[in-house]
Amino acid sequence: MRILLVAGARPNFMKIAPIFHAASGLEGIECLIVHTGQHYDYEMSQAFFDDLELPKPDFFLEAGSGSHAEQTAKIMVEFEGVCREQKPDLVIVVGDVNSTLACSIVAKKMWIKVAHVEAGLRSFDLDMPEEINRMVTDAISDYFFVTEESAVANLEREGKTADQVYFVGHVMIDNLLRQVEKLKSLDRRALGVSKLKEDLQGRDYLFLTLHRPSNVDDEKVFSGIVEALNEIAEKYPILFPVHPRTEKMMQKFGLKLSDNIVQLAPLGFRESLFLWQDAAFVLTDSGGLQEETTALGVPCITLRENTERPITVEVGTNLLCGSRPADILAACAKVESGKGRQGRVPPLWDGKAAERIWQILMQDS
Ligand code: UD1
Repeated sequence: MRILLVAGARPNFMKIAPIFHAASGLEGIECLIVHTGQHYDYEMSQAFFDDLELPKPDFFLEAGSGSHAEQTAKIMVEFEGVCREQKPDLVIVVGDVNSTLACSIVAKKMWIKVAHVEAGLRSFDLDMPEEINRMVTDAISDYFFVTEESAVANLEREGKTADQVYFVGHVMIDNLLRQVEKLKSLDRRALGVSKLKEDLQGRDYLFLTLHRPSNVDDEKVFSGIVEALNEIAEKYPILFPVHPRTEKMMQKFGLKLSDNIVQLAPLGFRESLFLWQDAAFVLTDSGGLQEETTALGVPCITLRENTERPITVEVGTNLLCGSRPADILAACAKVESGKGRQGRVPPLWDGKAAERIWQILMQDS
């Protein structure tokens, strides 16, 4: 069985890694990696391939940036060529980025089966481009591999039948657990950020990521967030790897961050994990970090009104606070006073999701 495994953006790379590693040695499976080039900077892409021990992609589509239409269209045209040449039996897409949408549409129209890993998540917020990507991908996929029960319910409501939907756990957590172990045996001095942590001398610090268009593209919203962050930084140093979009917007709006907020270039997977796993708490608007903090029991405050990953709030360590300064400060006060969630690890987030996916695909082939 020839399989094209698609990744395009940073949050995809950690999801394809365990799927790729679990395929090695499986008889009759040829798993080829397609990198669409949606993310292309060293820190946004190659640093992740290195940390995740992924080989050079078999196909690199060089889609690059652009409007959503431009980016999606470029990926579709290029991916169609790869499918025509390779004639895969199955295309595996992960997550909810533009590459996920583009490649699932192309494959399905060529009568190639599509498996969506991390299917069924819904924020019910159509202002998020990712929500549209999730809905369209799920409308046409053949296999739905889901990470939490809410996704099963969403897919059932949308008319999927039980024999298409597989609750397998979370491949991103497979990767996280593997990387936690790797970090333990690694010489930490080899990490570029180890000095930074040393300099904190055991003080409590926070870890921050911010890149959602709804938070950083609107001047009023972004200024309010910065106001709250600068106030929080009076108490705690904040480590902040800055996403390229966020960097651009900070410059455009002339926003000034407190000196106690340490701005860093985007980090590789291990450096990032090394910093956030010991933070007093994490502030983020990322999808993946909400889940990863839950898996390791680190308190997380999410600067969004909603989440497509409700398990992180229901049983995990996640607290949603939106983007208004007063709400961000109130959430921090709650977590500081120990009234934030202690959290448990959600069912099947045990590091074996990729194995389960292959068992199902092999049975079906
Ligand atoms: C994309 C995903 C989002 C994911 C995020 C993680 C979609 C719709 N969005 O958003 O779900 O959470 O990745 O990072 O697919 N840029 C660079 N270098 C790069 C990549 C991008 O400088 O390697 C710049 C682009 O020029 C653009 C900005 O960063 O100005 C945003 O990049 P883009 O790929 O459009 O979307 P993300 O915000 O990264």
